Amino acid sequence: MKLLSNISKNLNLKLNTISSKIKYFKLYRWDPDLKQKPYVATYPIDLNDCGPMVLDALIKIKNEQDPTVSFRRSCREGICGSCAMNINGKNTLACLCYINKNDNEPIKINPLPHMFVIKDLVPDMTNFYHQYKSIQPWLQRDLESIFDLNYDLGEIRQSQEDRKKLDGMYECILCACCSTSCPSYWWNADKYLGPAVLMQAYRWITDSRDQKTKERLSSLDDSFKLYRCHTIMNCSNTCPKGLNPGKAIGNIKKMISHNH
Ligand code: SF4
Ligand code: SF4
Ligand code: FES
Repeated sequence: MKLLSNISKNLNLKLNTISSKIKYFKLYRWDPDLKQKPYVATYPIDLNDCGPMVLDALIKIKNEQDPTVSFRRSCREGICGSCAMNINGKNTLACLCYINKNDNEPIKINPLPHMFVIKDLVPDMTNFYHQYKSIQPWLQRDLESIFDLNYDLGEIRQSQEDRKKLDGMYECILCACCSTSCPSYWWNADKYLGPAVLMQAYRWITDSRDQKTKERLSSLDDSFKLYRCHTIMNCSNTCPKGLNPGKAIGNIKKMISHNH
């Protein structure tokens, strides 16, 4: 009887080992309230009992192992931009990043680089949003045309060709992966607008319905706001939506140089 029970125990143990595939997640941890230096905490996750994305693992860690782990997320499908973080050295969205099941290496997760940290994986986005606001990201028309009695208050139409010019820019979800991968932004984030905000500026410059192109270009013609970009292209290499902010910055520079 004892022999049978031992065999069954061993069998269960073996089955459990076969059915679990442990991967370690190393997370940057820092809580300003604990007056502690930042540290790295390691959490084991059974990949056979977890969704395929890094965000699935983070949610599992928070739900089942440590509710104090903090990170942002909302849509879990690459739309809200809130789960941007540095995963194994690359800025990306945790919800679009597959867990590599083919190696035994731990996955290292840090907050977006060179940002102030609020807690754990949550960066302070205040400066980034102020910079976004500074480029006035809304459609602007000439006041004269608005006060013209003949002004048509209906839709402002756009040809299909002009609409196409916004492709590759309107898809930006302002996750800041690009800006926080840019060395120029690391050193001058207080004055250089960075690739995400500059691409948004170009999005409005390009919009055929907007009538403030001249003003927009002249406000960007600044050695820090725009010309800190040295075309290193880290930004375009890292964008999790496959966009090309480096090219947009190049186009702004070209337009400004044509106007001089
Ligand atoms: S360009 Fe790409 S990386 Fe940069 S903010 Fe937009 S979506 Fe994020
Ligand atoms: S091209 Fe290089 S310097 Fe310019 S914004 Fe992108 S990463 Fe920064
Ligand atoms: S959770 Fe919204 S982009 Fe990842």
